[in-house]
Amino acid sequence: MRNGLAWIVMCCSVVWSQGGGEIGIIEELDSDGDGKLSWEDVINDMGESAGERTEIVETFKIADEDGDNLLNESEANHFVELVNDLPDTEY
Ligand SMILES: *[C@@H]1O[C@H](CO)[C@@H](O)[C@H](O)[C@H]1NC(C)=O
Repeated sequence: MRNGLAWIVMCCSVVWSQGGGEIGIIEELDSDGDGKLSWEDVINDMGESAGERTEIVETFKIADEDGDNLLNESEANHFVELVNDLPDTEY
């Protein structure tokens, strides 16, 4: 599970480099098809332990610009960037 996000980043950059367009983390993880990621979608992928890490919770809140507890495409991409910038987090 620790490698979940890294896998997605890898997978999606491959898709992008193949010119597949803006297919991203939303399409990968969105469980209810509303085009946005919920915290549950993220934790389902990252693993329960990630949900217990304050810095990851905080990162979700920072990325969630409009505060609706859902990440749209640009917010989700921002979230991935921020998570990868966290010290001691190798996703
Ligand atoms: C995502 O939400 C942010 C914050 O509300 C907004 O600024 C941005 O335009 C939205 N992006 C998309 C792709 O809907």
